[in-house]
Amino acid sequence: MNNTQKRSNFSGKLGFVLAAAGSAVGLGNMWRFPYLAAKHGGGIFLLVYLILAVTFGFGLMVTEIAIGRKTGLSAIGAYKKLNSKFSFLGYLSAIVPIIILPYYCVIGGWVMKYFGVYVSGAGHESAADGFFGGFVSKAGEPLLWFALFLGLTALVVLLGVDKGIEKVSKIMMPVLVLLSIGIAIFGMTRPGAMEGVKYYLLPDFQNFSVVTVLSAMGQLFYSMSLAMGIMITYGSYMKKDVNLESSVRHIEIFDTGIAFLAGLMIIPPLFSATASNPEQLDGLLKSGPSLMFVSLPKVFDGMPGITGDIVGALFFLLVIFAALTSSISLMEAIVSIIHDKFHIGRKTCCFITLGISIILGVPSSLGFGVLSFINPLGTAGGSILDFFDFISNNILMPIVALLTCILVGYVIKTKTISDEVEINGKFKGKKLFEVVVKYIAPVCIVAILVFSVLDVFFKLS
Ligand code: PHE
Repeated sequence: MNNTQKRSNFSGKLGFVLAAAGSAVGLGNMWRFPYLAAKHGGGIFLLVYLILAVTFGFGLMVTEIAIGRKTGLSAIGAYKKLNSKFSFLGYLSAIVPIIILPYYCVIGGWVMKYFGVYVSGAGHESAADGFFGGFVSKAGEPLLWFALFLGLTALVVLLGVDKGIEKVSKIMMPVLVLLSIGIAIFGMTRPGAMEGVKYYLLPDFQNFSVVTVLSAMGQLFYSMSLAMGIMITYGSYMKKDVNLESSVRHIEIFDTGIAFLAGLMIIPPLFSATASNPEQLDGLLKSGPSLMFVSLPKVFDGMPGITGDIVGALFFLLVIFAALTSSISLMEAIVSIIHDKFHIGRKTCCFITLGISIILGVPSSLGFGVLSFINPLGTAGGSILDFFDFISNNILMPIVALLTCILVGYVIKTKTISDEVEINGKFKGKKLFEVVVKYIAPVCIVAILVFSVLDVFFKLS
């Protein structure tokens, strides 16, 4: 009980929603969602994602926040308190942020580089083919930007000034949304871009495959910061009088809305840019992690005069803030896990986290250049960074989500969770939540995990 009393609480519903949204909205929305949507069939990916968000996403987020609020503990303690046989689940979920943080900072570094490019007025050069590839295949420069982003994250966590960052990003976030709407409209009105809008919005069922579902599910966990214990920790700070269900709905709408917008901003310009050489389109759509950095400079380059440089600089600055609030929450999660487990000072924990992130982040960064001969995913292709991304999003997170559903659905029973939600009145989505957690989620996750493992060996897709 002591533990619960010691925890500081969010001041109210708005405070909770904003803090959780700060963790949720980040590179996952701006960078990861658009490239997956482009790669996995456009409209069909969007449709699958939306269906998963209102079912899986809703059920799991309610579960995690309720577990946190009920136990007043973060993941490791919380799972143990619910059922001692499931203690291992806390540890398993703790591995996920440790894998994500290093490569998250590599991408954060790329965003900083592009901010630098636009500030120095070199936007036009960055729109040229091969600019991004030339940059990431170097050894030193991307590492420097990676170190800068990681260092900044660590500094904020070390100095405990994350509240300051959150305040700034609360102002920046609405500006980011408005600017994104403006950029999306500009991009969509370029010649040929409407084909891209169609590709992104209209589902083509021929593009459907199990990989689409797997990728959409991994993206859902990633984007909503689920299946890694983070929402449990946030829940443990949530007051009992805050409406849990409607908070979840708000976070979901916010997170999904921004991802949707990012897709609209990044995908249509690819169609416009390749209108005269359509054979390049497919390669661009499938380009993966580089997509945002290839597509957006082309949009900014089409703006008159120096407008492109100004909009570009502002845009990447806003993305830096969105990414920082997420990387801070990732690092905080790791630090508090090490702190709770080994009872060492926060500063030391911070340095340990920093060390791990450097060890895993450096190869992720070099994987686009000197280490590009290493393809851990074998036939599936992809770099070292893709490998870490695959392990966390497509393997570990589904396993954590599956075991959480089994724990809640069959061991402690869904009533434990719905009672917690009902402290604040009627639980409108109760039936949906029960069906998702007990039946739909476990069956789908098992099917998808089996498929994705087979796929690596037999290349089914
Ligand atoms: N959800 C964040 C994003 O979309 C990434 C993240 C994952 C942050 C896990 C914290 C924890 O960018």
